[in-house]
Amino acid sequence: MAPRILAIESSCDETAAAVVEGSHVLASVVRSQIEIHARFGGVVPELASRHHLGGVVPVVDEAVQRSGCSLAELDAIAVTEGPGLVGALLVGVQMASGLATALGVPLIGVHHMEGHLLSAFLGDDERPARPLRAHVALLVSGGHTELCDVAGLGQYRILGATRDDAAGEAYDKVAKLLGLGYPGGPVIDGLAAEGDPTAIAFPRAMADRSTLELSFSGLKTAVRVYVDRHGQPGSRQALADLCASFQAAVIDVLMLKAQAALRQTGRDRLHIVGGVAANRGLRAAAERAAREHGFSFEAVPLRYCGDNAAMIGAAAAARLEAGLVQGVHVHTSLALDDPRVLAS
Ligand code: KG4
Ligand code: ZN
Repeated sequence: MAPRILAIESSCDETAAAVVEGSHVLASVVRSQIEIHARFGGVVPELASRHHLGGVVPVVDEAVQRSGCSLAELDAIAVTEGPGLVGALLVGVQMASGLATALGVPLIGVHHMEGHLLSAFLGDDERPARPLRAHVALLVSGGHTELCDVAGLGQYRILGATRDDAAGEAYDKVAKLLGLGYPGGPVIDGLAAEGDPTAIAFPRAMADRSTLELSFSGLKTAVRVYVDRHGQPGSRQALADLCASFQAAVIDVLMLKAQAALRQTGRDRLHIVGGVAANRGLRAAAERAAREHGFSFEAVPLRYCGDNAAMIGAAAAARLEAGLVQGVHVHTSLALDDPRVLAS
C-alpha cells in the first residue's frame, strides 16, 4: 500500500495540512492568511510567521480528523523545507519534527516547487490520481516562473526562468497599481473576462523562441507608463480592457515559451502548476494550443493550484517509495535543479 503521510506547508501565507496515501488525498485543509496581508498590499513575513504559529495545530488537527486516520496509522511526516520565508518555514518544520519524533516515523523535507510539480498528479474522491509521467512543466507562482523538463521524480532540468519578476508577482504589482488589492491574480483574471484583450498593445517581452528565458518587469512598467499617461481607468469597461490586455500579454508569452520548451525537449505533455495555473485565460489558452498542436494538457484542479499540503504529501510519498529521502534543511532559496533535490 502507498505510504500514508501527514504533510504540512507553511512557506508563505497559507497554513496547510493534508493526509495523503501516495498521490491520493484523504484530507486537505488550507487556512489562507490573505485577509491579514491584504491591507498591507503584500505578505508581511513577521505577520505570516505569527499566524502560522496560531494556525498550524488546528489545521493539522482538522486534516487528521477529516482523513479518518489516527496518528498511529501514519508512515511519515512531510514538510515544506523551502524555498520560502524563513520564519514561516520554521513553524511548519518545528511542528513536523515534533510530530515525527513523537510518533517515531521518518520526517521528509520537500522542495516547495517539487510539491507544485506533483500537484498535477493528485487524486481524491472526485478524480483518480494520475501516474507520474515525463513532461514539461510551466511553474508559475508568486515567487517563481520557470520552465522545467521533468524526466521523472528528482530528474529536473530548468530550461528557462524569469530574469526579473515572477508572473504572479507581475499580477500582484499591476493590481496594486490599479488599486485592486492583494493578491492581484484572481481579481485581474475576473476583470479580464469582461474586457477586450486587444484594447491596448502591451509588449511581449523576450518573445524570441530561441530563448526560454522570460521577463515580466517591462510589462509591469508598460502598464505603469500607460496609467501615468492616461490616468486610472475611468469606467469598469476601461479597467476590464486594461486587465484583459495585460493578461493577454502574460498568457501569450507563457504559451509561446511553453510550446518552445515542448519542441526543444521533444515532450508531448505540458503541465501548468502554481498559483497562476488557476488563471482562467491561461487554462483556456493551453487547452486551445494542446488541441491545435497535438500535445497533451490537463488543467490542475483549482483546489491544488495554490499552496496546499496535499502536493507536499504526494511528493514525500513518491520520495519515500523511491528511497530519495534525506534530512530536513530549511532554506529560503534553493533551485529545483540543485543537486540536493535531484535524484542522482
Ligand atoms: O503558488 P502560490 O499560491 O504561492 C507561491 O508559491 O507564490 O501563488 C500565488 C500567486 C499570487 O501572485 C497570485 O496573484 C497568483 O498566484 N494567482 C493568480 C490567480 N490566482 C492566484 N494569477 C493569475 N490568475 C489567477 N486566477
Ligand atoms: Zn507556491
